[in-house]
Amino acid sequence: MDEKTLQAALRELPLGGLRYFPSIGSTNDEALAWAAAGAANLSLVVADEQTTGRGRAGRKWFTPPGSALAFSLILRPAEDERPHLTRTVGLAALALSDSLRTHSLEAQIKWPNDILIAGQKAAGILVESVWNGEDVDCAVIGMGINISKGSVPPPEELNFPATSLEENLGVLIDREQLLRDVLAALIEWRPRLGSDEFLAAWEARLAFRGQQIQIQAEGEATVSGELLGLAPDGSLRVREKSGNAAIIRFGDVRLRPGA
Ligand code: BTN
Repeated sequence: MDEKTLQAALRELPLGGLRYFPSIGSTNDEALAWAAAGAANLSLVVADEQTTGRGRAGRKWFTPPGSALAFSLILRPAEDERPHLTRTVGLAALALSDSLRTHSLEAQIKWPNDILIAGQKAAGILVESVWNGEDVDCAVIGMGINISKGSVPPPEELNFPATSLEENLGVLIDREQLLRDVLAALIEWRPRLGSDEFLAAWEARLAFRGQQIQIQAEGEATVSGELLGLAPDGSLRVREKSGNAAIIRFGDVRLRPGA
């Protein structure tokens, strides 16, 4: 990956700006700092390697050089998007799963932020915000996609089985083209962020729908039950064994052992 090929691949997209780094700590950190300094809507940070890439819940995200796609997109919400900002992770997940499907990969969304292929994690999403008092000034959507085998962390570092696009396709996908496709899909879905159509499309892509799952969140009791779907704000709807309909706002979803 280099800046010229990247610029050429992305030239038809209405980006607010582009920063490319052969190596960086975390593209999300760079994007958060850029957003706080006034970056325009749809500014993009891309790196070939991340040395301190971050995942959800303080986890590390592995991005060795030449093997993965790691980027962060800055969204400046329009007034009419503000009521729907909790759906931002869905916007990213839907755009990414749509794009993978155009490459014949049956991508599913493991709520809230993982992309699975054949039951294994191939990509992760980390949405963070820059605040202005009580309002979100900018949302930063960070995505990490395992492109080649070399991007998959060693098994002892995994808390969920992982895979790469190469392992599923047998060939290497062009990173710049995939980036362009994901961004184009995101830009296309964005005006429908608050629509029922958006929620239905997001829900249709959820992994484990109708199955017995467990949700574990730090400091919280484990919730078990049937994964029903999504609430309008993007929370997860689960029917517990007692029949109680639980709404889950955060946590890690897994199939219930033995279910
Ligand atoms: C997760 O699965 O927990 C989310 C992983 C998100 C990783 C991406 S890579 C680009 C961006 N920069 C980071 O430091 N993290 C996100």
